[in-house]
This record gives sequence, structure tokens and C-alpha cells, in this order.
Amino acid sequence: MSSYYITTPIYYVNDRPHIGHAYTTVLADVLSRYHRLFGDETYFLTGTDEHGQKVQEAAADRGVTPQQHTDETVVPFQELWKKLEITHDDFIRTTEERHQVIVQEILQDLYDRGEIYKGEYDGWYCVPDERFFTEKELKDGKCPECGRDVVQITESNYFFKMSAYQDWLIEYIEKNPEFIQPEYRKNETLGFLRKPLQDLCISRPKSRLSWGIEIPFDSDFVTYVWFDALVNYISAIGYRRDEKAFARWPASCHLIGKDILTTHTVYWPTMLQAMGLPQPKSIFAHGWWLSDQTKMSKSLGNVVDPMALIDLYGVDAFRYYVISGMVLGQDANFTSELFISRYNSDLANDLGNLNSRLSKLISSNCDAKVPEPEEDPLAGGEEKDLWATATTAVEALEDSVRHMHLDHGLQQVLGLVRATNRYLELKAPWNQAKEEDKRPLHTTLYVALEALRVASGLLWPVMPERMGTLRSSFGLSAERPDHACLTRWGVTVSGTPLTKTGPLFPRLQIKEDGKVETSSDVKSEKAPPDEDGAGLITFDEFSKVQLRTAKILSAEKIEDTTHLLRLEVMMGEERRQLVAGIAMFYEPDELIGNSIVIVANMKPAKIRGVESQGMLLAAKKGESLRLLTIDGEMSSGAAVS
Ligand code: MSP
Repeated sequence: MSSYYITTPIYYVNDRPHIGHAYTTVLADVLSRYHRLFGDETYFLTGTDEHGQKVQEAAADRGVTPQQHTDETVVPFQELWKKLEITHDDFIRTTEERHQVIVQEILQDLYDRGEIYKGEYDGWYCVPDERFFTEKELKDGKCPECGRDVVQITESNYFFKMSAYQDWLIEYIEKNPEFIQPEYRKNETLGFLRKPLQDLCISRPKSRLSWGIEIPFDSDFVTYVWFDALVNYISAIGYRRDEKAFARWPASCHLIGKDILTTHTVYWPTMLQAMGLPQPKSIFAHGWWLSDQTKMSKSLGNVVDPMALIDLYGVDAFRYYVISGMVLGQDANFTSELFISRYNSDLANDLGNLNSRLSKLISSNCDAKVPEPEEDPLAGGEEKDLWATATTAVEALEDSVRHMHLDHGLQQVLGLVRATNRYLELKAPWNQAKEEDKRPLHTTLYVALEALRVASGLLWPVMPERMGTLRSSFGLSAERPDHACLTRWGVTVSGTPLTKTGPLFPRLQIKEDGKVETSSDVKSEKAPPDEDGAGLITFDEFSKVQLRTAKILSAEKIEDTTHLLRLEVMMGEERRQLVAGIAMFYEPDELIGNSIVIVANMKPAKIRGVESQGMLLAAKKGESLRLLTIDGEMSSGAAVS
């Protein structure tokens, strides 16, 4: 069994958590869940960074102590992780005793061994980033990392001899291609190391900043917040305290955003080297979630609040979107439109549709129990192909997790879902159901169910709640799937009663007023009536719907809407008014004179205050819509049957 130790950055508690923090933590959670699924002994650490100038200032502004301030501001982070179903094994706060004492012991040890010395500091400081810069490092006189103003500082301080490790670090990075990922971030660090590396100022005089861990050999100083923070990765797992727990070191992956590359790929490795500890196996820097193509910031007012998204779309939809919507390493733009469109296509249409189709077919044709397949169900070409697609998806996903191409692996799983939908279309179980011999029908349903079992197992680490519900509906555990079962054929037990899940992912629509609506009539999740045994209707039922031809006399847009038209039609001798959501597809003028088909006995309803006395028929797929019209001459009011 291999071991896997993953960390997130520890977040500053002076901000409320936003989508960026949520992203790193969800990603670490998804990776942890996959590794646990693969059978790796997994340990997942997250936490908060609670010292430093910004916290001291924020607390002073509020008139509370820094400790009181952080005790309050840590709560939204912990609540968000709970809501997001994050399965961290530990949450470390840098104000905890267990962390502070280790930082002090490390400092004392490095000082005793001459790795830390006292000197004069003269340079520039970026308060928001809590980082020092030399004159040369500034960009147009501003912070080279964030572009904000810097302040000049001259004072006595303690320094860590970081410069002594420059050559060693360059060689280490070059010899260990997996150490900094993706490759372009490795090159960025090597670029940074082309310039002479300075020693690292690791203290702050208490006269300027008192909120930090006291330097053990000089009580006039506290520890620089980054030196303090980076140590969390080892203090949390028992460094200098618990040898057994500390066997987890080195970390398999420090997951970070690209903003904190230098601190993790230069400061931290040199600190570890000075301590005589092995290096983490990899430091992976992901990209930024942008809002309107720009960095999120409070001042621009474009910060995306994860809590609001979760309340609107659900935890699993949020987790799925952030994981599948970002190519690992690169930036991604967040918009509600992209969120909704991916949700509707992948989750509501592909996955939700497959689930509801299967459960309806099994309910109405197999007494709501998992059917028994024919003797050698994988003998048929299509069945064999579908199962091969499933096993390939398992391999591809595992490979994508191990090589940090998660978005790619997920696409393969969605490919399996689509292939299963295609398989059903090909086999047409709604027709097989009409045959005397039910064995082919049962085989089709069983094979599709097995494919859905594999897909839902592979998606469980991303959407544990919804996939748990789906899997338990056909008798599997809602908890972590068993890895060995993912590639094993025939795990679903015939005869297991099926329980109803209801729509897993109701389709989302953006309404006129910009609000999002989950449609209860979930069109996409219903199999077309003619395809689905459960949806078959009798002739009597059909004859209740009175379809008539009608001629369009006039058409105009309904004020304050973008998609509604008011039509006047003649149906025989009768004049009627219809409201139709077709303004995005037709100009009013091009409709006049057309003969269309309407449902004549539809109960009148008011739409945006305008009465609609019937409903026209149209074919709609994706982004296109065309009206049902009459081919040739036919008087209006004629019955359509
Ligand atoms: N406290 C330091 C980290 C110390 S680690 C030893 C810090 N904290 S932070 O609160 O600013 O969090 C930074 C991290 O949050 C980023 O590295 C990234 O993981 C995440 N994100 C913050 N904003 C982000 C985006 N807009 N997009 C994606 N993730 C970003 O730096």
C-alpha cells in the first residue's frame, strides 16, 4: 500500500473564504478521496494562517485581541469545509500551541547551528502579501507579486542563510522533474533562481508587530509569518514529537495556487534542507479562478461567494463544476452561464437522463428489481464494447489522478455515461419490452446498469452525496466504492429492489429576471415517451389532446421580456391569442401567414400578465428551435392526429 500525504495552503483568516480557497480545498479533497479509493493510505491536511500584520491591524480596528479576532474569523472556513463535505484528517491553526512550540524549536536549532544570524534589514515590504523585496525586485516601484504599494523598512532583524542553498536548490529542481509541477512553474522558479538569492529575513521587531510567535533566543522579536506558516506541514504531523506519525513525511503533494510559488519552491525547500529533512515529492501550483476574466478582488466587487453558489446549485454541482471546469494548472473564468451550461449538459442531460431512464425502465418492466441478464451477457458486440469503455475509463481516471490531469479523466467518465445512453438508444429496450422473450431486454438493462455503476463509482469522489444516493438506489453502499469492484463485471445483484432517487440533477434555467430556476418538469431527465416503456400512453389518452392547425395573423414581442412573443392566430372561425417562448428564434414578421399546429384544448394561462389560449408545437434541441408547420395547403382549424 502506498501512502499519500496532501496539503492545502493554510488560508489567511482575515478574508472570508471565496471560490479560490474553496477550489484548492475541494481539489485536495477530491484527490484524497481518489487516493483512498485506490487503496493508498491517505492523509489530508488543511488549516489557517493566523499571525501577521494584517490580522493585528484588523483586530485593532475592531477593538478585539488578535486571538479573539482569529477565533471568530476561522469559523467561516470551518463551516465552508463542512458544507463542502471536505474530509480533511486535520485542521491546523498556527496559533495552536502544538504548532508554535515546533516553530520555536526549529528556530533555536537553526540559530544554534549558525543557520540564522542577526543583521540589518533595509528594503521594501508588501503588507498584504507579508513579503520583503529588494529595490531591484520591485516592479515600477510596486510589489512584484500583487502590484500594490510597498513600504520602506530599515531595522535590525534575524536572517536565515537561504543564499547558501541556491546552487543546491537549482540542482535539486533540475534532477527531480516531478518536484515542481506543472513544468512551466518549475521553469518560473528556475528563472527566479537565475538572480542571486538573498538571505531570508525571518523576524519582525515586536515594536512594529507583536502578533506572531516569539523568537526563542530574542524576546524583542516575533517570527516572520511565512517562516511560521510553512512549518505547519510538519508540525501538524508530529515533527520532533511523534516519530510514528511523522513517518508520513515527505508530503506527496503540496497543493498551492500559483500566487505562492516562490515561498513554496524556494523558501520552504531551503528551510527543509537546513533542517536536514527530505523534500516534498511534489509541489503543484494550480491556476486562478478569474471573475470577468480578471483577478477577483474586494475592491472590484467581483469576488465569487461559494456559499451562495452552493445554496443555489447544491454542493455536488459546485464540486463538479470547479473540478471539471479548470484544466489543472491553468486559469479559468467563472461565469454563471458556463456553470449552468456544464451542469445541464453533463449532469442533468447525460448522467441524470441515464439514471432516470434506467430506473423507469426497470420499474415498469422488471417489477422494480435489478433484472437477471442472459448467461453470457458480454458475448454481444455492443455489450463487450460498452464494458471495454467502462474499464478504459477506470484506467484513464486513475492515470489522470496520478498525473494531475483530473479534468481529462472526468471527461472519460462522462464519455462512458454518453456511451451508455447511446447503447440504450441502439438496443431500444422500449421495443425489446414488447417482445415475448424478455431476456434480451433484461440483458440490456443489466449491462447499462453495470456501466452506470462504474461511472457513478468513478464520480463518487467528486460528488459523494449525489453518487451515494444513486448507488444506494440499486443496492450498493452510499459510502466509498470498492476499487476492485470498479473493474469487476457483474457486481450489481439481480433481484435487488430498486429505490427511487427522484431527479438527481434538476435542469437549471436562467429566467427573464436573471434568477436561476430548477425546473420541476425536468424535461431532460425524462426519456422521450415513445422510447420509454414507463412513458407509453394509450390511444385514448392521446385523443384527449386536441391538436389543430392555425394560421398566424400577427406577432409582437412582449415588453420587458427577451424570449416571449404574443401571437394572434385563426383556428377555423375562432381567433385566439397565444404566448410563445420563441422570440430568440424568430423575428415577429417572418411568422405572419404561417400555418402551425397548436394544442387547442390547453387550459388558458397567464404568462407575464398576457393570457395564452393554447400552445404551439415546436421541435427543440440544444440551442435551436423550429415550429411545426403544415406541409402544403390546409385550412386552419383542421384536426391533427
Ligand atoms: N497564508 C498563505 C499561505 C500559507 S501556506 C503555508 C496564503 N493564504 S491565502 O488565504 O491568501 O490563500 C492563498 C491560496 O488560496 C492560493 O494559493 C490558492 O490556493 C487559493 N486561492 C486564492 N484565490 C484564488 C483564486 N482566485 N483562484 C484559485 N485559487 C486561489 O497565501
